[in-house]
Amino acid sequence: MNERLNLLSDSWRARVGEAVDFLKGEGFHGKVGLILGSGLGNFVDAVDDPRAVDYGDIPGYATTSVAEHTGRLVCGTAAGVPVIVMQGRLHPYEGLPSEELLLPTAVLACLGIETAVVTNAAGGLNRFYTPGDLMVIRDQLDFHFNDPLRGLLTHPFAPVPEKGQPLLPPAEELAALAAIGRSGGVSHLFDPDLAKLLVEAAAESGVPMHSGTYVSMYGPPYEAKAEIGMLRRIAGDAVGMSTAPETVLLKRLGVNPVGLSCITNPARETGQPQLSHQDVVEVGIMVRSRMAKLLLAFLPKV
Ligand code: HPA
Repeated sequence: MNERLNLLSDSWRARVGEAVDFLKGEGFHGKVGLILGSGLGNFVDAVDDPRAVDYGDIPGYATTSVAEHTGRLVCGTAAGVPVIVMQGRLHPYEGLPSEELLLPTAVLACLGIETAVVTNAAGGLNRFYTPGDLMVIRDQLDFHFNDPLRGLLTHPFAPVPEKGQPLLPPAEELAALAAIGRSGGVSHLFDPDLAKLLVEAAAESGVPMHSGTYVSMYGPPYEAKAEIGMLRRIAGDAVGMSTAPETVLLKRLGVNPVGLSCITNPARETGQPQLSHQDVVEVGIMVRSRMAKLLLAFLPKV
């Protein structure tokens, strides 16, 4: 029995398990999972011997409504490393319940990946960032203000698994945590060792790289000026509309996450131009070659 599937609540486990069985039957497996953000889907061109399945053909998958998100799962090797790539993701602003929104992420984890690279397109809050820069995510501020995993885990009070440790502690320890209604905290949601490797890979491949805090907002409209002012004051460096719920789930399922933001626009407090989704997608196309270069240098280090 897949150990990670066991961590999911009964009703979710059956749905996730069905998709996992289907994909395993199609030969899907990998060491590193990658979730590609808006306009960043072209990384799949760097995947050798690709096998692809449209989300719509995977049992239980809701398809994405954002136009340029192709919505495919691709498996193969990149820089010689076995990878499974989510080309397109669902966003909280699409209004789906968590069990739909997070199902593809749960499937990715239950296919057995060890590491997940969670990428996104983001606005730069930090005044030193310019469009086209990349930022390794050190930590996040989650403005969704709800627990995306509520009702989705068998042991909601289980401690967050540490690297190299079993996914669940002994039954008595679990019972004691449940009795007091507390779960162990997590000191590092994003793996600091992987973040360091990503910075190293950036230096080696000549890609400009920052390191900072990602803020996840609901959207879908971009932030109001007052919101940008607030997010800067609370020390956010980049702002987007994804990543937070997925990363929390990956970490709870014992996958090591590393986060990468591609800065597609400055989030401006004053004189902010109208920002269309198309603008974001176009700069995304510009940054995607940098991101691909970086990831190809990073993957063999994992
Ligand atoms: N705000 C929120 N999400 C985004 C932005 C932004 O400025 N740019 C790309 N995704």
